[in-house]
Amino acid sequence: MANFGSDNTSGVHPTIVESIVAASAGAAPAYGADDLTRSVESKLSALFECDVTVLLVGTGTAANCIGLATLCPSVGGIFTHAEAHIVNDESTAPELYTGGARQFTVGGDDAKPDLEELEQKIEVSGARGVHSVKPSVISISNLTELGARFSPDETAAYSELAKSRGMKLFMDGARFANAVAGSSDSPADLTWRAGVDALSFGATKNGAMAAEALVFFNPDEAMLAEFHRKRGGHLWSKHRYLAAQFDAYLEDDLWLDLARMSNVNMARLRDGILSSHNASILAGGDGNELFITFKEGVAESLLQRGHMFYAWPSLPNAYRLVTSFTTTAMEIDEFIDDLK
Ligand SMILES: Cc1ncc(COP(=O)(O)O)c(C=O)c1O
Repeated sequence: MANFGSDNTSGVHPTIVESIVAASAGAAPAYGADDLTRSVESKLSALFECDVTVLLVGTGTAANCIGLATLCPSVGGIFTHAEAHIVNDESTAPELYTGGARQFTVGGDDAKPDLEELEQKIEVSGARGVHSVKPSVISISNLTELGARFSPDETAAYSELAKSRGMKLFMDGARFANAVAGSSDSPADLTWRAGVDALSFGATKNGAMAAEALVFFNPDEAMLAEFHRKRGGHLWSKHRYLAAQFDAYLEDDLWLDLARMSNVNMARLRDGILSSHNASILAGGDGNELFITFKEGVAESLLQRGHMFYAWPSLPNAYRLVTSFTTTAMEIDEFIDDLK
């Protein structure tokens, strides 16, 4: 039966397991002073075509919150879409890490923050000087929480707004690999060249065991992040095991190959759904997430047969289907047969 519950249900890619095993031979300096960590830093600088500062952590929540805490003061405001992971799925970690910064949400199709609404909210929230919240960060997710990809131009529009108000632009890239794999633009074009200040670059959903890279495009800002990581308990002593995962992930574009597989699986699933009369597509499909609605009773019957996917409460009668690099064509075809 098909498992479209989440890309977090996928396993660890064998190359990454092998890299962890290889890193176990002998001793290595702790807390990121090891050679593998240096290798990850230089690979990420090459990938992004600029000198980046990198902090490796074990969860996406940690990467997002350390990044936000670095860019946003405790008296600041973070402006994002109402569907954002940092709003709905990270408990009060953003508030904890930032020391109390407030999140403001706006609407927008495909979970892309509506620019006009964003501008208005920023105006209003900062209008009362010291009595109000200091607008500090705009945060977008690429892919978005509704499975859409941002083009460099779209991202640049958020950056222009942010820069015009002295704010920073943060990108939650838990599925950045899927966004890159579905685009003809380079990682640099999708981030710093479009004005992104910091990115959480995910690996866990796409083949790693637990590894995310918080990438700063301005090294001056990153020093503070080091303190936030330590303070938040996310500086691993045996850091080389985080680095071993990322090193293998970046080697020979494994990250991109896995994301491409995941996106190809989604394309097959989407085509199957389009050919059926029992479901229709509501959103997503740019990467590895799709949001659909079923004819009455169909979802229940598929779930009873053992297929796995979740309801998505923010859209009417919606369900989210997610593919990964471990999804098989057979799983997809069985699901589509049963759907039909
Ligand atoms: C958009 C987005 N950001 C971040 C994360 C990372 O979350 P976690 O802390 O569970 O690794 C996820 C995982 O579901 C996500 O979907």
